Amino acid sequence: QTSRLVDSHGRTATDLRISLTDKCNLRCTYCMPAEGLDWMADTDLLTREEIGRLVAIAVTTMGVEEVRFTGGEPLLRRDLAEILADAAALTPRPELSLTTNGLGLKRKAAALKAAGLDRVNVSLDTVDRERFAKITRRDRLQDVLDGMAAAQAAGLAPVKVNAVLQRGLNDDEAPGLLQLCLDNGYELRIIEQMPLDAQHGWSRDTMVTAEEILESLSTRFTLTPATEPRGAAPAERWLVDGGPATVGVIASVTRPFCGDCDRTRLTADGQIRNCLFANGETDLRALLRGGADDREIAERWQDAMWGKLPGHGINDPSFLQPTRPMSAIGG
Ligand code: GTP
Ligand code: 5AD
Ligand code: SF4
Repeated sequence: QTSRLVDSHGRTATDLRISLTDKCNLRCTYCMPAEGLDWMADTDLLTREEIGRLVAIAVTTMGVEEVRFTGGEPLLRRDLAEILADAAALTPRPELSLTTNGLGLKRKAAALKAAGLDRVNVSLDTVDRERFAKITRRDRLQDVLDGMAAAQAAGLAPVKVNAVLQRGLNDDEAPGLLQLCLDNGYELRIIEQMPLDAQHGWSRDTMVTAEEILESLSTRFTLTPATEPRGAAPAERWLVDGGPATVGVIASVTRPFCGDCDRTRLTADGQIRNCLFANGETDLRALLRGGADDREIAERWQDAMWGKLPGHGINDPSFLQPTRPMSAIGG
């Protein structure tokens, strides 16, 4: 054991979020333009071996307990099962989860479970086929629904569903999404949109707030606060109609949870970000490829975390959106 990933505001990172690729096979309007983005070159991406080494350092020497794989779309990584298996072989074994758009999950769920994946969060913003095609620019709603069902059947449970609402587009969908999740045993979380889109088009006016989300859900369901401690979780949870089912709201903008943050992030091209909204990064890829030993890598990672700011600053007048979009950071 070297030492843990602590910052100067008293937080300890135990949750490592790794983006495996910046590419995606959907084109959600609130995330990227129709033509996609200027993707990272393959040689810039960390290899399976490089990812395995960093995960091993984090888990076995710095107290990371949970590893989440994100993207872009992580199912596009052909070596995802091997990357999972490498992480699952560590002692102590970290908890392994995936945040995905669900395309192709139907075919892969069982193999990913076998490789060591514990659970999945699937993004879904509407239950309406035409709206899905409009929001994601691809007519693939049924594939996502099939993917969620396959994940649950494979034991990747609980399946959590992430929804982002946009005013005038799908701001009436909260009750319908919740009903779908109740019917299938999934856990819905509705997320306030953050200023992380590639187009830099976020505005406070189109963001649907937690308060509005709760009001909309309350037209069809009775919500009471869940009593379990929230810990570092982004989602605040409510019991639906007395429980046991719950619904979560992730109010990143109107009720920030940065004070309890336990996350450290690794981009697909090997940069540590101490926050989604960090304006600096630490290049571990250069260290890896330059022959650094584990101790040097751990120390550089610890330095990166020490400087983490107390909060994201979205609500400050001087806020500037980070240059990297969400799709290249990992959600
Ligand atoms: P679990 O509930 O443990 O599955 O984790 P999670 O909610 O962190 O997972 P997920 O990857 O599904 O994240 C859901 C959403 O929470 C993301 O899309 C973000 O919008 C938001 N989120 C996750 N981590 C952070 C964070 O560190 N800061 C902020 N502001 N939002 C975050
Ligand atoms: N703000 C909040 N959530 C976002 N997501 C994508 N972009 C944003 C944003 N700007 C969500 C996706 C997915 C998860 C990875 O992040 O809908 O559920
Ligand atoms: Fe943590 Fe930054 Fe997210 Fe706040 S915005 S919860 S500090 S990663």
